[in-house]
Order: sequence, then C-alpha cells, then structure tokens
Amino acid sequence: MGIFDVLVFVIVVLFAGPISGQDPEIVDDILPEVQRVGGTARLNCTVANKQTNNLFWIHDDSGEVISMDRTVTLQINPMIGGLRKYEVFKRGPADRQTYMLVIRRLRQQDAGRYTCQIKIQNDNLGQVEKTGKLTVQVPPKIRPGDTTTLVETDQQQNSSLVCAAMGIPLPNITWTRLDGKALPNGYSQYRGAVLPLNMATTDHMGVYRCVADNNIKPPDEHLCEVRVFHAPAARTVQNSVGQAQNRRFTARLDCIVNGYPRPNVRWERIVSGVREGRVQLTDNDFFTITKQTTDNQNLMSGEQWYTLKIRNVRANDYTDYFCIAENNKGTTSIMITLFGELYNSIPSLPVINRTV
Ligand SMILES: *[C@@H]1O[C@H](CO)[C@@H](O)[C@H](O)[C@H]1NC(C)=O
Ligand SMILES: *[C@@H]1O[C@H](CO)[C@@H](O)[C@H](O)[C@H]1NC(C)=O
Ligand SMILES: *[C@@H]1O[C@H](CO)[C@@H](O)[C@H](O)[C@H]1NC(C)=O
Repeated sequence: MGIFDVLVFVIVVLFAGPISGQDPEIVDDILPEVQRVGGTARLNCTVANKQTNNLFWIHDDSGEVISMDRTVTLQINPMIGGLRKYEVFKRGPADRQTYMLVIRRLRQQDAGRYTCQIKIQNDNLGQVEKTGKLTVQVPPKIRPGDTTTLVETDQQQNSSLVCAAMGIPLPNITWTRLDGKALPNGYSQYRGAVLPLNMATTDHMGVYRCVADNNIKPPDEHLCEVRVFHAPAARTVQNSVGQAQNRRFTARLDCIVNGYPRPNVRWERIVSGVREGRVQLTDNDFFTITKQTTDNQNLMSGEQWYTLKIRNVRANDYTDYFCIAENNKGTTSIMITLFGELYNSIPSLPVINRTV
C-alpha cells in the first residue's frame, strides 16, 4: 500500500464514516406552501435512512406536536366533511420516504412555520430537522367601523377619506368616483388607504368608491359620500312662460336648486292692487307646489327639481314669480315671468291617411 492509497483510505474513513453511520437525513428542503383560507395545505418532508426512528411534525407557532410517523397525536383532530383536519401520508421507497402533512379547512391561525423533526434513537440529544412555511391567504375585507361613510365639510377645508382593509397579503386600496369625475388629486384614481380631500369645493361632492384587492378573490368595496356645505343656487328651465287665460289651462314653472344643507324652497309672486307687493304661494285650489323625487336625467348630482303649477290661468296671474331657496349658508332667488298668450285656434285633429 503506497502513501497515496493510505491517504485515500483515511479520507474515505473521515468523510464517509459518519454519513454511512446510517443516521437519518432530511434530504430536501420543505417547500413553502401557500393556500387560501378554507383550502388544504400539503407539506412534504422527505427522509433517507429513517429506519425505526420517529418523525414528528410540529407547528412552531403553537408549539404543538401534530403527529408521530403516520399517527396524528393531537388531542383534537376534528372531522370536517368526512375528513380529518390533520392527516399524514407516507409514500416512496423505504430508503427515501416522504411524510406529507395534510392540513384541511385552513384558518388564519394555521399559518406559520412547521418543523419536521426526527429523533434519533439511543441518542438523547440527537435529532435532525427542517422547517417549512405555510401562508394562509385571506381575501380582502373592509372594516366598516374604521372606514369613512360620510364626509361633511365646509368649503376650503381639509379632510380625508379612510378605507381600512384587512386581508393576507395586505390589500391594495384604490379610490375612484362613481360619477367618473376627477378625484381631488386631479386623477381618475388614487392608490392608498387615506384619500386626502384638501381645499374642498362643491366639485368634490359625490359618491366615492374604494376597492380593496390582494388578488385573492373576491375584492371588497365600500362607498363614501362627500357633501360640501354651500349656499343654494337655482336655475330655471324657461325664464318666461306663456299661457292663455280663461280656458282652464295650467301654467307650469320649473325651478332647479342645489345647496347643502338641502335648501327649503318657497314660491312668491308680485301682486298689484290692494295687497301690493310679494306674497308667498301655498299649495291650494289655485297652485300646486311639487318637488320631483324621482331621479331625473336632467338633474346634476345634488340638484332638486321644484315645480309650481298655476291652475285655470287668468289675467291677474300674469306677473313675476320667484323661486326662493334658502339654507343656513344663504339664500337665492330666481324670477320666472308668466305672460299671456293669444289663444285663437282649436288644435287640429291629426289627419290619418287611409289606403283602401
Ligand atoms: C407535497 O407533495 C404533494 C404530492 O406530490 C404536492 O401535491 C404538494 O404540492 C407538495 N407540497 C409542496 C408545498 O410542495
Ligand atoms: C389644507 O391643505 C393645503 C394643501 O395641502 C394647505 O396648503 C392648507 O394650508 C391646508 N389648510 C388647512 C386649513 O389646514
Ligand atoms: C399591489 O399593487 C402592486 C402594484 O400594482 C402590485 O405589484 C402588488 O402585487 C399588489 N399587491 C397585492 C397584495 O395585490
């Protein structure tokens, strides 16, 4: 035996010796597992030379030992849908076995680190182990209590809209407006849980939507309304309305107002004669005062449509009418004139062409 052969022998003994001592070895890393809440996780521990040594699965976060070899040792292993929550399956040849830990109906608290540990018999301290990570994904959920539903602000004031969401991973929050108008930042959308509303103007009034998304379906969403206090403004459909007298005709005057708080609206008109001046009109035999409640395509957000109908128009109805809108921020008034129209023809009946 030459010196070289001795060297090779020594090296072989030194390096092969302890390994060929038949100690168990976990041969692969335990790959991270990602599943959504309610789903099923599978963690694999592949071991060589296991022999009669025991293999344990341990949940590091709770400190609980889940299983020994193929047996679940937990006191509580509930049956759900005909299957146990925890189960261990063994597969592969004797010299390379995989112990797969199955966890069903995942809850958030099942997430964390799981260790596969082999205790070496006749060696009090001897053990080998590897750890893998389980992530339990949770779809987004907006917390209503911490999320803004209504902002009421004065003009030129600063405030913000908060959208508080949970979920794993933490969801992204996106703000948009339902009416498609630009957000306070000037863009059509905004990323972030807190949407700043600086220097509020009436343009900011409307319904805002926040969507929480973390790619775990379904996303969650929430609506928030912004109202900016402001004095009333009014517009008319026609500034002057014509109607013939003494024919039991009705004249219709329309007035569209906005303002916040919602203004009170009243109608007045000029009278001459004994009680000269302006008088307020009330809903009675001569006047019908209505507020259109149904959504109207001609209305912009925050607007309300008021109508005054003057029934059985007579000569003394030809005068100026005022629609007056008032709230605690101010008052506005808009005038509509009712004038006499000649009535000199009976509307002709429609001509129907018949072909025989
Ligand atoms: C464990 O093995 C099973 C069966 O091959 C496989 O379906 C599962 O994805 C594996 N788990 C991980 C985390 O790779
Ligand atoms: C509101 O925010 C604007 C812009 O961020 C700032 O310039 C202004 O001083 C703030 N106003 C108040 C009342 O805090
Ligand atoms: C949040 O948005 C960023 C940018 O689009 C994206 O890379 C990331 O994956 C998103 N996060 C989640 C949890 O969806």
